[in-house]
Amino acid sequence: MASLTIRKLDEAVKAYLRLRSAGNGRSVEEEVRVILGDLIQGRPETPGPPQTPSPAEAAPRHRGPVPASGSSRVTLIIGGGIAAYKALDLIRRLKERHVRVRCVLTAAAQKFVTPLAASALSNERCYTDLFDPGSEFDAGHIRLARECDLIVVAPATADLMAKMAQGHADDLATAILLAADKPILLAPAMNPLMWNNPATRRNVAQLARDGVATIGPNAGEMAEAGEAGVGRMAEPTQIATAAEQILKPAKPQPLKGKHVLITAGPTHEPIDPVRYIANRSSGKQGFAIAAAAQAAGAAVTLISGPVDLDDPAGVDVRHVESAREMLAQVEAALPADIAVFAAAVADWRVASEGAQKLKKTGAGIPPLQLTENPDILATISKLRETRPPLVIGFAAETEHLIDNATAKFARKGCDWIVANDVSPATGVMGGDRNTVHLLTRGRDGGVDVDSWPVMTKEQVAAALIDRIASHIKSSPA
Ligand code: CTP
Repeated sequence: MASLTIRKLDEAVKAYLRLRSAGNGRSVEEEVRVILGDLIQGRPETPGPPQTPSPAEAAPRHRGPVPASGSSRVTLIIGGGIAAYKALDLIRRLKERHVRVRCVLTAAAQKFVTPLAASALSNERCYTDLFDPGSEFDAGHIRLARECDLIVVAPATADLMAKMAQGHADDLATAILLAADKPILLAPAMNPLMWNNPATRRNVAQLARDGVATIGPNAGEMAEAGEAGVGRMAEPTQIATAAEQILKPAKPQPLKGKHVLITAGPTHEPIDPVRYIANRSSGKQGFAIAAAAQAAGAAVTLISGPVDLDDPAGVDVRHVESAREMLAQVEAALPADIAVFAAAVADWRVASEGAQKLKKTGAGIPPLQLTENPDILATISKLRETRPPLVIGFAAETEHLIDNATAKFARKGCDWIVANDVSPATGVMGGDRNTVHLLTRGRDGGVDVDSWPVMTKEQVAAALIDRIASHIKSSPA
């Protein structure tokens, strides 16, 4: 193994990618084994074009402390799930970003991928045992926890997350995670039923409170035939991008230690099993606020109606459909220091949802009796014990923007209102830009209106988070 060349490793990676795109019936491990086997047995290498190793690849294998300069270093813990095969691609994605990767495989992970494949792709020794004489005599799990800039767990199984939330340390992976003094990024992957199980929800919330970042899971089809839902591991590029964000030099974190609760997107109110009432909200503004709050160091819970957006990295996202589900999730996520209600919640739902699809009959058009949905913003603003100290609403208006927003401000009982014109000509609904006015209470009891220029939704989010941060700084603790 010591004589492995960069080109052979590169071939192994390419073989893996070929397999992914073509699928030739051989497992990734088999393919890598063939290539490495050739090399170990001294079979001649197939001549290839000369290759200049990148600085990261050319560097000697690292055994000592983290280098003071040069590339960042990730300890990648691969958990036991079908998504473990994607962790092999993640190694490559991280290396593309000049990140050095050292892999740890749990016992269950080794049922899906082999240490050999992880080691060949990372060009590092791969670790599997807590009591490995080669590493444990000098406290291997402590070194693996410390000699890196970030620990990534992909796939993070329900079991691994439960152990982390409880502080177990009965194998190498959990011992590293318990000994870690570095940021941790989880890429959960599990069956949707497991992801939605109250026990997993509790563990996810606990880990978020402990400052552990998560990326995904995404919605989609499961490995189990016919099963779909939220539970697929985030794609390797998404995880690598999230890791890169964390590895960036630390920015000021004015919301560190704060819990920010955000609603976003539309709600869908069922009419019958196939039809629903909806609106044109894309969820982009709420998602941008969640990402900005996370970047400012907050623990963020985002409760989102149905949207076509990737979950922001490091945010605890809870997906809901209806206004009533959104309210239940908001209440479950309390307490919070700051709550931002950016969702376009449907005001009404159908009074009695059809159990079966409504059919055309000779009796004419069915009457749709509507009933009012709970007002989430007003409900939370009126709480006594658990009201977040700063509650921010949105006022989406199509006419008399400031007048309507001022009336809404008084009606809802929140602390600030972000008013925006959503009439079709503005392109705000579904678009990337927003023109907002921040309504706050003035010293004289009146309403102060601060009108911001046209900005992207990300810029609006960053400006709002800045404003929140200065408010918190100036408020008595
Ligand atoms: N909101 C809410 N629950 C509702 C309706 C609205 O939490 N059932 C929140 C929105 O998230 C937003 C604010 O209330 O922060 C205002 O929403 P908007 O749709 O602009 O106002 P409505 O209360 O629906 O009033 P109207 O339809 O008369 O404009």
